[in-house]
Amino acid sequence: FFSKKNAQPLRGKKLIITAGPTREKIDPVRFFTNHSSGKMGYAIAKAAAEAGAEVTLVSGPVSITPPQGVHTIKVETAEEMYEQVLTNFEHADVVIKSAAVADYRPAQTSDQKMKKKDGTLTIDFERTKDILKTLGQKKKHQILIGFAAETEMLETYAARKLETKNADLIVGNNILIEGAGFGTDTNAVTFFRKDGTVTELPLQSKEQVAHELISEIDRLLRERSL
Ligand code: CTP
Ligand code: CA
Repeated sequence: FFSKKNAQPLRGKKLIITAGPTREKIDPVRFFTNHSSGKMGYAIAKAAAEAGAEVTLVSGPVSITPPQGVHTIKVETAEEMYEQVLTNFEHADVVIKSAAVADYRPAQTSDQKMKKKDGTLTIDFERTKDILKTLGQKKKHQILIGFAAETEMLETYAARKLETKNADLIVGNNILIEGAGFGTDTNAVTFFRKDGTVTELPLQSKEQVAHELISEIDRLLRERSL
């Protein structure tokens, strides 16, 4: 993919990539989660490793195999993902938050399997920590990349996330578009940059999207070192 002249544009760079969903326990047999397959994040991890980066992949529960040459840390909950990402943050050059982190978790987890009762069930949920927002507050030299999977008003929400999370780039996609979003092998994403420029990419394989993102990261790192 990369020209011979610069076959490994990310050589020596340390990347943290998060992928997949998180799983928030209700009781020993039940949990709260989402449809993230991890395919996008794993494709990015593979492309980054091929580009010479030292990759730490912090992954929620997924059914796919981690790419070779990548240091993979498996986590289950948003809290565990938060801890692993924060632990590795100081020495990272780039963080890519492609994971679909649960925004809420059950306020109480039952140690025993819950028994069914008549009538409706109400579960109280509490907020999880916003990992990307925390990184945005702590960042020094690091480049922060977030994802925004939306069903409406992509431009508005992506621009807002760029701002509130102090990110350098938001990779946005409308998950209602055929072939884009959760579980598919393809994706149609738009890059929303800090300087206000926007690039809409065509529907392509998640591997191709990953390569486009690596090129974008290469550009961001070059700008930073100027
Ligand atoms: N994110 C995170 N920690 C969370 C929730 C989200 O780090 N607890 C990250 C995601 O990994 C993603 C970005 O923030 O890179 C945007 O996630 P998204 O769910 O689109 O946005 P939210 O800020 O959670 O807002 P909302 O779900 O209301 O759109
Ligand atoms: Ca969310």
